[in-house]
Amino acid sequence: MPSHGRVAGVAFRDRLGSPLVGDAPKVMLLGSGEIGREIAIEAMRLGAEVVAVDRYDKAPAMQVAHRAHVVAMTDPAALRALVEREAPDVLVPEIEQIATPELVRLEAEGWTVIPRADATRATMDRERIRRLATEQAHVKASAFRMVDNLEEARQAVQDLGLPAVFKSVMSSSGHGMTVVRDAAAVEAAYREASEHGRVRNPRVMIEEFIPFDHEVTMLTLRHYDPNGQVVTTVMDPIGHVRPGTLYHESWQPEGFPPDVLRSLQATSTAVTDQLGGVGIFGVECFVRGGTVYFSEVSPRPHDTGLVTLGSQWNSEFALHARAILGLPYVGPEPTTPAAAHVILGSAPGWAPSFGGLSSALADSGVRIYLFGKPEAYADRRLGVAVARGQTIAEARAFAERAGHHIERELTLQAPRAAPADHP
Ligand SMILES: Nc1ncnc2c1ncn2[C@@H]1O[C@H](COP(=O)(O)OP(=O)(O)O)[C@@H](O)[C@H]1O
Ligand SMILES: [Mg+2]
Repeated sequence: MPSHGRVAGVAFRDRLGSPLVGDAPKVMLLGSGEIGREIAIEAMRLGAEVVAVDRYDKAPAMQVAHRAHVVAMTDPAALRALVEREAPDVLVPEIEQIATPELVRLEAEGWTVIPRADATRATMDRERIRRLATEQAHVKASAFRMVDNLEEARQAVQDLGLPAVFKSVMSSSGHGMTVVRDAAAVEAAYREASEHGRVRNPRVMIEEFIPFDHEVTMLTLRHYDPNGQVVTTVMDPIGHVRPGTLYHESWQPEGFPPDVLRSLQATSTAVTDQLGGVGIFGVECFVRGGTVYFSEVSPRPHDTGLVTLGSQWNSEFALHARAILGLPYVGPEPTTPAAAHVILGSAPGWAPSFGGLSSALADSGVRIYLFGKPEAYADRRLGVAVARGQTIAEARAFAERAGHHIERELTLQAPRAAPADHP
């Protein structure tokens, strides 16, 4: 059971103790990638005690935390044992691959999960989150069908029309996803979605394809105000493009007419009101003409939000850390035009070495973040270039140029026998 009589949920805080020797809040990161590393740094800047957890050693956040543990977080017993041993004040899921039913049980026993255990469970299940968004939050989303076999898939495609998007119920980073443009492709798409999600599952989601004009992430913060009331602050829209299914480039702010902006804010607030708790959410939306469609939501800082390292005084990581520690925030804050461009691995390899830095850093508006991942593979995110500019176009050009200089000069040592880690 939690120590010192804590109740579930993050309490409003007006005072913080010292780490290691005092009663500073203890933050346990479940997942220790680059997103976790930034959360860890920001939490430590506030004097928190940070424990980093992941399934492989030397993960990015482990390199900056007070303590680190290598644990299979998908194993409920291992997860529980670690929580009971460390007794953290807050459990902060950084990835989806966690035994979320165990998080729900831990929360019921009084441990605090960010933003709430139910929200982490709902958002990793496309059917649950889509139903919550459309039936409880009453936001607009693409039409969809859930199917349990190939025959139902064919029928759903008849109903929805082509193109249609096939997705695994539980997956991320585009795994198991296919855009079907021709009825002949239904069988392969169904098989892909049912076999290549996080688990094999005959149940598959099929969505109407939205030929959107813009794809944006609305970073939405649920946090205390200085009076101890939980309120919502929605950040400026983050535009992004994905040449494939993975995050590649993002920028902030993405400009919209006032009515579209209001609709984006209302959509984001409606969905996060249903999810509850405190912390940052990344609400993914499509905009087509004047219409906003909800797509999905991360109950944590979002990869496209790496741009806020340059565009906001308080990045999404700083805001997440502040909110989950129960500290107040007053927003929104002005945004400076900025862009972020990923630095990707080229092939499997060990101990990446980054070159091209004198060219990449030739402009004062550019910053680079190298994540310190011990291992690379093709398309693994190893770093990000963040740039400010007078305009979004200029910031995007700077970030892309810097990212590409570094990618071109990346060298790797021979791969180790250890199993490759997933993004
Ligand atoms: N219904 C849709 N219509 C058009 N594009 C879509 C649709 N669903 C997803 N996409 C595209 O595919 C990307 C990945 O889909 P998403 O549902 O966000 O899955 P993931 O969990 O892998 O991020 C989106 O960012 C968007 O570009
Ligand atoms: Mg997505």
